[in-house]
Amino acid sequence: MFIKTFQTGGDRNFGYLIVDEASRLGVVVDPSYDPASIVRYASENDVRVVRAFCTHDHHDHTNGNADFERATGVRPLLFGDTDDVSGDEIADGARFPLGRLEIRVIHTPGHTPDSICLLIGDALFTGDTLFVGKVGGTDLGDGARTEYASLHDRLMTLPDEVRVFPGHDVGGAPSSTIGRERETNPFLLRGDVEAFIDLKRNWAAYKEEHGIA
Ligand SMILES: [Fe+2]
Repeated sequence: MFIKTFQTGGDRNFGYLIVDEASRLGVVVDPSYDPASIVRYASENDVRVVRAFCTHDHHDHTNGNADFERATGVRPLLFGDTDDVSGDEIADGARFPLGRLEIRVIHTPGHTPDSICLLIGDALFTGDTLFVGKVGGTDLGDGARTEYASLHDRLMTLPDEVRVFPGHDVGGAPSSTIGRERETNPFLLRGDVEAFIDLKRNWAAYKEEHGIA
C-alpha cells in the first residue's frame, strides 16, 4: 500500500490518494480544494482511481467533488450514499475492495452526524473527527458527547500501530498513530465526557498555557 498526501489548500486541508501497489488501483479521500493535482499525480504514476470518499459533508472537504468526478468518472461518496459499483450503502461497517486491500467504513458522528473514518490496511483517515493532538470542533452539548463516544468506542479500540491521517494539517505533525494519540492527545487523556467538554470550553486558554499553535 502506498499513501500520497496532498496539501490541497483551504484551511490546511489534506487530500489523500491510497494505492494498492499490486493492482495500481487507487482510492481518493477528500479531494477538497485540489482535485486536479490528485488526478494528475494518479495519471503520472499509472494509478487508476476507482473509488473516492469524503469524510463528511463540509464544504472544505467536498468542494472539489464535481471537478473530481468530471476528471475521473468517479463520484466521491459520503455516509448514506449508495456505491454505484456494488450497490452497497456507505454505512457503518461497510467494506469495499481495493485490489488486495479493503476499505472499511467506521461511522464516527460528532463533528457532524455524517462523519466517517476510513480504515485502509493499517491507515485510518480520520477527517475532522481526530486530528494530531486535537479533535474535531463540536458544540459543547450533544455534539461533544457524540464525538466523545465515537473517539473512545470506535477509534481508541483500534490497535496502537494504526496510522492516523487527519483532514487538516493542524497538529505538530501531519500524521500520527492511534497509540501516540491515545498517550498524548489532551482530549483523549480526559477521563470522562465532562472533562472532555471542559477542555473544549477552555481550549483557548489551554493552548496558550501549553504553547500549542
Ligand atoms: Fe469539518
